[in-house]
Amino acid sequence: MKALVYQAPGKKALVERPMPELEAATDAIVKVSTTTICGTDLHILKGDVPTCAPGRILGHEAVGVIEEVGTGVTVFRPGDHVLVSCISACGRCEYCRRGMYSHCTTGGWILGNAIDGTQAEYVRIPHADTSLYRVPDGLAEEAVVMLSDILPTGFECGVLNGKVEPGSTVAIVGAGPIGLAALLTAQFYAPAEIIMVDPDENRLRAAGRFGATKTVAATGNAAEAVLKLTGGRGVDTAIEAVGVPASFITCENIVAPGGTIANVGVHGAKVDLHLERLWSQNITITTRLVDTVTTPMLLKTVQGGRIDPTKLITHRFRFDQMLDAYETFGHAATNQALKVVIKR
Ligand SMILES: NC(=O)c1ccc[n+]([C@@H]2O[C@H](COP(=O)([O-])OP(=O)(O)OC[C@H]3O[C@@H](n4cnc5c(N)ncnc54)[C@H](O)[C@@H]3O)[C@@H](O)[C@H]2O)c1
Ligand SMILES: [Zn+2]
Ligand SMILES: [Zn+2]
Repeated sequence: MKALVYQAPGKKALVERPMPELEAATDAIVKVSTTTICGTDLHILKGDVPTCAPGRILGHEAVGVIEEVGTGVTVFRPGDHVLVSCISACGRCEYCRRGMYSHCTTGGWILGNAIDGTQAEYVRIPHADTSLYRVPDGLAEEAVVMLSDILPTGFECGVLNGKVEPGSTVAIVGAGPIGLAALLTAQFYAPAEIIMVDPDENRLRAAGRFGATKTVAATGNAAEAVLKLTGGRGVDTAIEAVGVPASFITCENIVAPGGTIANVGVHGAKVDLHLERLWSQNITITTRLVDTVTTPMLLKTVQGGRIDPTKLITHRFRFDQMLDAYETFGHAATNQALKVVIKR
């Protein structure tokens, strides 16, 4: 089968690999029909994610059809149409019982990281009963694949951890797919202002169409511009959706007294925390690896037409064009790209 493999920092290739096989009774093999690329895959390729070793098949987002199940799988059967969650969860360990699936002792974020991932024609899914979701009838695969990672991540790590409330002021630093997913789901809570910050003008225009009340081009001093827009006060919630020191520092500089910085970005370098200024500001800083506990709820909001994640999709590729898909997503500003989907 064809698979996209991480070879070394800065190096990837589309290669032939043997089909995955069942390794545990609770595994399923899924024939991938739609997958996509995440900002996290770009971090892996930069060398930011040491748990992902060279030789790994990348990807943690997919929709597909079950090809084969182990003897311990009771919920799903071959032929079932399923959403693959980016988080694998046993459902039984201490963390799973607390709803913190991201820290499952035999799962968590392992797909396309510690085990081979979804940017391939077939993928092995551990703990299949508790890591797959049935695709509701009538929903397009490319809408559903946005629920593997970006919608639960934007919502859980950004909106829920950031305590977005009716009437509050929110800034989302980073208007990539994750920042835009936070923008879509923040609107469940009717904040008064959502200010979107990014150097990419095209992504800011998209943010304006998707409900941002104001946009700031993160080319000069973005924090100063956000403070100006909020009468010098700052924001109640600053969602960091980039994963570089500059964007986290922007959040430190715009959070209002009593506010929350909700970090979403995957960081590969240390960041300065300015406690000499923030110690007296009654702020909260949260971090989170997405748990995907809200996936069933988010599926219902998509099914009910409350949000339409397909508007995040700008480019479509076939499996044999996977490298072109990376090229397009990796140079998003030049290509006016948001989310790219790859179909069989
Ligand atoms: N915590 C989690 O569980 C989790 C899950 C998925 C993704 N992530 C992370 O979320 C982040 C965003 O993912 P994505 O897919 O949207 O990535 P992306 O690379 O597509 O988007 C990042 C955006 O940030 C913008 N940007 C760069 N520097 C900036 C700055 N200084 N200020 C403002 N904007 C800036 C870029 O122009 C781009 O639009 C990544 O770090 C990704 O690894 C975290
Ligand atoms: Zn991801
Ligand atoms: Zn577990």
